[in-house]
Amino acid sequence: MGPHIPAMERVPEPELMEGREQAAAYAAADFSASDSAVVARLGELFPEGLGPRVIDLGCGPGNISFLLAQLQHPPALVLGIDGSDPMLALAEAELRRRSSAEPALADRLQFRRSRLPDPGLPGGFSAVVSNSLLHHLHDPAVLWRALAQLGAPGCRIYLKDLRRPADPQAAEALLRRHGADAPPVLQHDYLASLHAAFTPAEVEGQLRAAGLASQLRVAAVEDRYLEVWGRLAG
Ligand SMILES: C[S@@+](CC[C@H](N)C(=O)[O-])C[C@H]1O[C@@H](n2cnc3c(N)ncnc32)[C@H](O)[C@@H]1O
Repeated sequence: MGPHIPAMERVPEPELMEGREQAAAYAAADFSASDSAVVARLGELFPEGLGPRVIDLGCGPGNISFLLAQLQHPPALVLGIDGSDPMLALAEAELRRRSSAEPALADRLQFRRSRLPDPGLPGGFSAVVSNSLLHHLHDPAVLWRALAQLGAPGCRIYLKDLRRPADPQAAEALLRRHGADAPPVLQHDYLASLHAAFTPAEVEGQLRAAGLASQLRVAAVEDRYLEVWGRLAG
């Protein structure tokens, strides 16, 4: 047996992205490639669509919520939730801007300030989507309990997040590969997020503990992501 090399330990980062400069830099960044990849993957996993009511957890400035609101015909009602006031303000400003050209958008897309866990959120969603939220949560069980609270029977689930690299050098290499041109505040956040992320094995353990292991699957994707998908029991 070779020497035991300990995996890099998780270092949580602040849950909410509440800095105004931080939120503005995030909203200004171009995540269109990874956002489109989320939408394309939803189409592969759920070719029949996401159903009538979709919730986007930790929606940030709403980049994915806006795509979800355009995704299918008839369109779904989409609710984006986030616990950060600056992020929500950016999402709502963008909704006002887009609604002036397309008034019907405001009828099917809403944003709401909500910090998970939030027993006040309604249930009965036909799909729960979340991109880059899990690694922010100090207690990841909050997300798995939220699925049971929010999802209707048979609810479609798709969550994507970073996965934690093996060591700090691998995290630095990912930053150089994917974030070298980003402004300093985003480079700082990206590195912190890689250190705060979970491994696929840890997420599998979280799903077992939450009683979701037979409903949801976990896989590593590309060099830095993991995804969790499936349907809640009908
Ligand atoms: C990295 S951003 C992702 C934003 C968006 N989903 C995207 O894909 O670009 C993570 C967001 O999760 C929010 N967040 C973190 N913890 C939360 C919690 N407990 N409840 C609600 N939102 C939370 C943060 O405020 C932040 O806006």
